[in-house]
Amino acid sequence: MLDITDLSVSYKGIEAVRGATLSVPGGGITCLIGRNGAGKSSLVNALAGLVKPSGGRIVLDGKDLSRAGAATRSRAGIALVPESRRVYGSLSALENIWLGARGNKREAEERLASIIELFPAIERFQDRGGNQLSGGEQQMVAIARALMCDPKVLVLDEPSLGLAPIVVKAVLGGIEQLALRGQAILLIEQNGRAALRISQHAYAMARGEIHSLDHQSPEFNERELQALYL
Ligand SMILES: Nc1ncnc2c1ncn2[C@@H]1O[C@H](COP(=O)(O)OP(=O)(O)O)[C@@H](O)[C@H]1O
Ligand SMILES: [Mg+2]
Repeated sequence: MLDITDLSVSYKGIEAVRGATLSVPGGGITCLIGRNGAGKSSLVNALAGLVKPSGGRIVLDGKDLSRAGAATRSRAGIALVPESRRVYGSLSALENIWLGARGNKREAEERLASIIELFPAIERFQDRGGNQLSGGEQQMVAIARALMCDPKVLVLDEPSLGLAPIVVKAVLGGIEQLALRGQAILLIEQNGRAALRISQHAYAMARGEIHSLDHQSPEFNERELQALYL
């Protein structure tokens, strides 16, 4: 579904992403774990077209998007929920979510209903202002907004960051349900253990380099992984 090949990102000569190669299949969760500063956000921001890579290829569903702008990538089906979440404080939760909608109103309403099944809490706070929402509520709104455009790949940059454990459970639980419905998801996390548990494919990133992990193999050594990446 999504193939990133040999992608590099530099900031004024500092290489934050070094020749990263990663694939996301058409359904299920692929996670990318790594410590703060590893280069994860640089990679996904380059994927979404928010940061200009110094090299590499991005192909979605056979379509080369390497030179496409952010709007084209979003239309092609890459939806990024950024680390910052970007929920508008002056709009209600529901208005924020509707910002993501495209096309047919009735289809969008059906989509919204199916998203609320994943995150039932939304119904409780939907009329509250964006600036009155907790971190977890904001995260649910940001994910719901991204899903309103029916993306081919949903990219989540550290959705559990700064959330209380019980809220992390609700957010990751919704993401897991979404994957079971067939949604392709690229999940970025520092919270490596929780991410690995719900992922079918996994990569780890350190100092700008990506390595694929065979995390479902019985020989997978979590301690070794921890020393390197978490
Ligand atoms: N806009 C930027 N300008 C300069 N350096 C940056 C910028 N964004 C990130 N970096 C640097 O790039 C490296 C990777 O950062 P980032 O991609 O945010 O990692 P992660 O998301 O894994 O925490 C860090 O050393 C960070 O300081
Ligand atoms: Mg980051």
